[in-house]
Amino acid sequence: MAQWPTLCSFLTLLEVRANMPSEKPKKITGTEPVDLLPPDPILFGQSEAMKEVRLRAAKICDTNIPVLLYGDGGTGKEVLARWIHKHSPSRTGQFVKVNCAAIPGTLLESELFGYEKGAFTGARVSKPGRVELAHNGTLFLDEVAELDLGLQSKLLQFLQDGHYSRIGDESERAVEARLICATNKDLEHGIEAGRFRADLYYRINVVRIRMPRLRERREDITILAGYFKKQYERQFVKESAALEPQMLNYLRNLDWPGNLRELSNSIARYVLIGPEAAIIPESPKRRAAAAQASPDEANAGPLKRIAREAIRDMERNLILEALRANQWNRRRAAVALKISYRALIYKIRDTGLISGRSKLSTDSQLDNNGASHSSTD
Ligand SMILES: Nc1ncnc2c1ncn2[C@@H]1O[C@H](COP(=O)(O)OP(=O)(O)OP(=O)(O)O)[C@@H](O)[C@H]1O
Ligand SMILES: [Mg+2]
Repeated sequence: MAQWPTLCSFLTLLEVRANMPSEKPKKITGTEPVDLLPPDPILFGQSEAMKEVRLRAAKICDTNIPVLLYGDGGTGKEVLARWIHKHSPSRTGQFVKVNCAAIPGTLLESELFGYEKGAFTGARVSKPGRVELAHNGTLFLDEVAELDLGLQSKLLQFLQDGHYSRIGDESERAVEARLICATNKDLEHGIEAGRFRADLYYRINVVRIRMPRLRERREDITILAGYFKKQYERQFVKESAALEPQMLNYLRNLDWPGNLRELSNSIARYVLIGPEAAIIPESPKRRAAAAQASPDEANAGPLKRIAREAIRDMERNLILEALRANQWNRRRAAVALKISYRALIYKIRDTGLISGRSKLSTDSQLDNNGASHSSTD
């Protein structure tokens, strides 16, 4: 029998979202561990599409050749970058990630190349850059298409001879590092539009590997779902029911625009809340696609439909209450609901409290106490 959601399970759903891998560009946090990778049979699965990826990655990992990973969001570019590092001569050094989209250009330059004491206001001590930290290791430039043109030239100079200077320092330093870049944008299009330097493109694109979308590797969904389930059971110290063949069949038939990240999120909901939650896709558009993908589900008995509607209504009411209690300040409402600001904005749209089209006008109404937020907040 379908389980009725309780207020408690509902709040948990909101919290799960807050604890789930965030879509927000990650802050540069320093060097990252690579030993948390999934085992190879999971990471590469059994699909033809991933066999190709594995073959290419295995061929180049022994060398120091620059690699460009491209593919849609959530397809596993970063996971593969870590795998390449782990299997390359640079594994004795550190894996240093720089998210080029997360930091404005001027700051990014000092993050990348470091600075000397007194180089600019606030530079009270000298600081090494990410490039320096990657010496004898791997420098992973994520979302490389977002680099501004000024930094692209600086990076190009560095890639040409391995030399660079910290900001405010005349002397040159040398670094040996493996370079891996990742993007979900079409860099060639960026070149045509004058946003990306062709010479830098040829430097970073010596070998390129395309990460397939999850829907191009449906055969791997079962093994991945099982892996995520175990991971979340361990993380949340909670056992969950075995994934029924019917459920796996349903998951294999979805389109997964958010790729492995979206599958992982669905399984997190499955573990914490149950099968009902796992099959509620994350956006209205996805709900429509899911209904098409699974006629059985679309025609499910009224109880299931009612349960789903009830979940949505409860969520909507909770959010409304929190917004009212916090004078429509979304940031404070998010704190009260124990979810991220971004998750709240998503929920406000998802529950139909405002539509995407009325976003701008409603956004200013919602923040009527003068708080201003950036859209990526
Ligand atoms: N091959 C894989 N096996 C198991 N989990 C994976 C695999 N690839 C990706 N994941 C998981 O899916 C999520 C997204 O992966 P990752 O961050 O590497 O994707 P991405 O392509 O870099 O995404 P984005 O473009 O949004 O930065 C992560 O939680 C990661 O652990
Ligand atoms: Mg990434």
